[in-house]
Amino acid sequence: MGSANRRLFLGTSFTTLGSGSVLLGQAADKVAAPKTSKDAEFEAMQRRLGAELPRFQPQTLFLTWHRDPTTTMVVQWIGTRGETADTTVFFTDDSRLTARKDPLAPVDPQAKPVTVPWRSVVPRAKYFPRTDFLVYRAELTGLTPGTEHLFRIGKSSPNWRFRTMPSRATDSFSFISGGDCGVNLAALENNRLAARQNPMFVVIGGDLGYDNGRSVEASLAFIRNYSTTMVDNDSRLIPLVPCLGNHEVDGGYGTRDKATFFYPLFDGLFPETGYTTLDFGDYLSLVLLDTGHTSRVEGAQTDWLDKTLAARKDHPHTIIVNHVPAYPSHRNPVATLGKDGKTVNGTGENQRKHWVPLFERHRVPVVLEHHDHTFKRTKPLVGGLHNDNGVLYLGDGSWGRLRIPRPDDQLHVMVKTSDDYHISLHRLEGRERFHLAMDHTGRVMDTCKSGQRRAGMVAVTG
Ligand SMILES: [Fe+2]
Ligand SMILES: [Fe+2]
Repeated sequence: MGSANRRLFLGTSFTTLGSGSVLLGQAADKVAAPKTSKDAEFEAMQRRLGAELPRFQPQTLFLTWHRDPTTTMVVQWIGTRGETADTTVFFTDDSRLTARKDPLAPVDPQAKPVTVPWRSVVPRAKYFPRTDFLVYRAELTGLTPGTEHLFRIGKSSPNWRFRTMPSRATDSFSFISGGDCGVNLAALENNRLAARQNPMFVVIGGDLGYDNGRSVEASLAFIRNYSTTMVDNDSRLIPLVPCLGNHEVDGGYGTRDKATFFYPLFDGLFPETGYTTLDFGDYLSLVLLDTGHTSRVEGAQTDWLDKTLAARKDHPHTIIVNHVPAYPSHRNPVATLGKDGKTVNGTGENQRKHWVPLFERHRVPVVLEHHDHTFKRTKPLVGGLHNDNGVLYLGDGSWGRLRIPRPDDQLHVMVKTSDDYHISLHRLEGRERFHLAMDHTGRVMDTCKSGQRRAGMVAVTG
C-alpha cells in the first residue's frame, strides 16, 4: 500500500471509528433504564461466573518431551511461588470430557454432571537462573498413544488440550521444523503459520530466542511467544522439541554452564550432554546433535552417534537435527588462510569429516540444518557428490533471521537456495516422507520427498 493510500485508509478508518463511537453513545443513552429484579439476578449470576473464571494461565506454559512421545508429555512453565494455590497438574483422556461439544447444542436440563477421575502429578520446581522465577515441570506418563488429552493446573486454570503421538507410523502426521527464530515480528508470523498447519510438534534447531546465555529477557520472550502462538486449529498446545545453537551459549562455544537458560529449561531431554535422541515408538527417531557448542563434534559425540544410528537401523524414519550445517549455504564451507597465516576451518568441515560418513553408512534419509539463515535444499549426497540414494540436507534456519545465500556454491551441492524467511513442514505417511518449505506468507517455496532406508540405501526424488 502506497503512502497516499495508507493515509486514505487510516483516514477512512478513523472517520468510521469516530462515527461508530457517536452511534454507540446514542445507543447507550437509549438503553439506560431503571434496574429490575431480573437485572439484579443477571448481575449476581455474572459475579458468580466471574468468580469461577479460570485465573491461572501462565504465559510461559508449553509442552515438551523427555521420553517417548507416544506415552508421555511434559508440562512446563516459568512462574513464581505462590502465584497459584496449587500447582498440581491434573490430566485425563476420558472421552466424556475430551469430546468436542457443539456450543450451540441444546442443554439437557435433566443431565447429571459427569464425574471423571483425573490423574495428577505434582511438578518439580527449580530456579530459573538470574531471576526469582521457578521452572515448573511435570512429566505425565502412562498415556494412551494417539489420544486427545486434557490437563489443568490446580483448580483455577482452564483446561488445555494435547494429543499423544500415534503408537505406529501407519497413521500419517506432520511436524514442523526450522531454526534461528529470535523474537521479532517475522518470527511471530512464522509461529502462527506453523501452528495453522496443525503439526504434531515443532522442532527448533537452535538459536531460539538469541539470549546468548546472557539475556533472560530474550529467553523468556521466546518462551512467551511460543506459548501464546503455538496452539493448533483445534485448540491443542503444540509440543516443542529444541536443539542447541550457538546463540544459547555465552560466547557460542563453551561448557554446559555457559548455556545459562537452555539447560535449566531443557535438561530433561539433555540431562548430561548437548546431544540426545528422542524415539517415537519404533517408527521415528529424532537425533538431536550439538555442533560443538557444549559438546565437541569429534570423540565421544561421534562414537555415540555411530552406536545410536546402528541401534535404529530398522526405524523407518531416523532424522538428524543439528545447528551448524555440514553443507552451509551462506558461510564459506572450505578452509581459508587467516590474517595471521593460520588456516581457518570452513563451516561444517569437522562435521563432514566425522558425521557425514556415519549418516551415509547408516542410511540417514534427512538432515535438518540451521545457523546460516537462508532456505536451502541440497542434492541427495554421498561423499559430497550427487547420488540418488544419498542423504538430503534441508535448511538453513530462517524462521526469524535472514542472510543471502552464497552465489558460488563452492561444493556444488545445492539444488535450491533463497533469502526468504521460512519453515519446513514434514509429512510422514507410513514409510513415506514429504518435505515442504513455506515462506512466512504461507507460499510454497519447495517440495520434495526423501527416500526409503530399505535395501541398504536411501533414495531421494525432487
Ligand atoms: Fe542463527
Ligand atoms: Fe547459529
